[in-house]
Amino acid sequence: MRYHTKMKKPQNLHLQPLTLLGEISIDTFLKEYWHKKPLLIRGAIPNFEGFLTPNELAGLACEEDVQSRLVSYQKKQWKLEQGPFPEKRFAKLPERDWTLLVQSVNHHMQEGNDLLQQFNFIPHARLDDLMVSYAPDGGGVGPHFDSYDVFLLQGCGQRLWRMSEQKDLSLVAGAPLRILQSFHSEQEWTLSAGDMLYLPPHVAHWGIAIGDCMTYSIGFRAPSAEELSGEFLNYLQMRRELLGRYSDPDLTVQSHPAEISASMIKKVDSILDGLKWNEEDVARFLGQYLSEPKSHVVFEPPPSMSLKTFCKRIALDGIKLSYKSQLLKAQDSFYLNGEVLEVDPDSVDLMMKLADDRQLTSDELSEAVKIHENLVAQLYDWYLAGWLIF
Ligand code: SIN
Ligand code: CO
Repeated sequence: MRYHTKMKKPQNLHLQPLTLLGEISIDTFLKEYWHKKPLLIRGAIPNFEGFLTPNELAGLACEEDVQSRLVSYQKKQWKLEQGPFPEKRFAKLPERDWTLLVQSVNHHMQEGNDLLQQFNFIPHARLDDLMVSYAPDGGGVGPHFDSYDVFLLQGCGQRLWRMSEQKDLSLVAGAPLRILQSFHSEQEWTLSAGDMLYLPPHVAHWGIAIGDCMTYSIGFRAPSAEELSGEFLNYLQMRRELLGRYSDPDLTVQSHPAEISASMIKKVDSILDGLKWNEEDVARFLGQYLSEPKSHVVFEPPPSMSLKTFCKRIALDGIKLSYKSQLLKAQDSFYLNGEVLEVDPDSVDLMMKLADDRQLTSDELSEAVKIHENLVAQLYDWYLAGWLIF
C-alpha cells in the first residue's frame, strides 16, 4: 500500500521500565493534573515506536469485529466513513489529509494489553480502550474536544498538537463528526515517538500529522449521570420485587371521573417509596455494568480441552484474562464480563491478583490446582467460554 512506504517499520514493543510520567510522581500527577489540566511528557516511553505498522492497522480495520473509522478533509469538507473496510478502500486514498482510527486495539493484541497495564495507576473501572490512528501528512480528526480523559502517546512519526482551554465549545452543526466552530490555539507542541500528552475532558485540541504518523490514545470512560441513572433504574427493575398492587377500598365518587385524584397520587407515591437502595446495590450495579462487554464484543471459545489437561496446562503456563475480558471487584464481590462471581474465601487473594494483573502465573497456579478445587473449576468454565486464554 502506497501510503506507508515512508514509514519505518515499528519495532516490536519493547516497553521500557515504567517512566510514563517522566519526572512527575503518580501522586503529583493525580493531585495536580488528572482531570484538571494538560501535561506534556517528553520521552514518556523512550524509543516507543508502536507495535503496529500502518498496514497492520489497515488489516485490523478490515475485520468484522473491529470498530474503525476513516476521517478525511477534502475540499473543505469533513467526511466520516465507518469500518469494516474492504481492502481496496485503502488503495484509493489521497496523498494527505485523512486518518484511519481503530478502536479497542487492546482487545486484539497482547501488546495493546501490556501498554494499558502501564496505566494501572488509574483504576481499571475508569479505563476505556486503546485507540490507534494512522495519518499521512496533514491528517487528523479536526479541532474538537472529548468528554473523557486521554493520554495521547506518539508512535512513529511526528504530530503537531494544538490545544486550547477555550470556553466556547460549540460544534459545527451538521458535520459528520464533532468539529469545533471556532478553535483558537493557545499552545502548540510537536510530539515525536515516545512523547505523550495528557488531556483532561473538555480541553479543545487538534492533532495534525507532520508527515506519516501514528498515535496511540489511551482513553478513559466516565459515564454521564444520565447514563448511570438510566442503567441503574434498569438494574433495579430487574432486581426489585415490589409486593402488592394498587388498591382503593376507600374509593369515593369523584366530581370529575377523568381526574387522577390526589388520593391516587398519594397511594402510588407510597408504593414507589418502597423503591429504596443502598450502597450494596450500587456496588453490585457498578460491578456488573462496568465489567459488561460492549455490544460488539464477541468471545471466541477455544477448542475443547478436558479439565485434567487444563489443570496441567495452567500449572505449567499460567492463565490470562482474554484481552476482551474485564474482571472487577466491588466491596466483597468480583464481577467478570457482567456476571457476579461466587468466590471461596480462601481463593479471594488469587482472584484479586487475576483482576489486578490480568493474569496468574504458573507459580501462583501450581499449588492452586491442588487445593483450590472450586476456583480451578471456575477458571476452566471461563476458559471454555473464551474469557481466559493461555
Ligand atoms: C487521533 O489519534 O488522531 C485522534 C486523537 C484525538 O484527538 O482524540
Ligand atoms: Co480528541
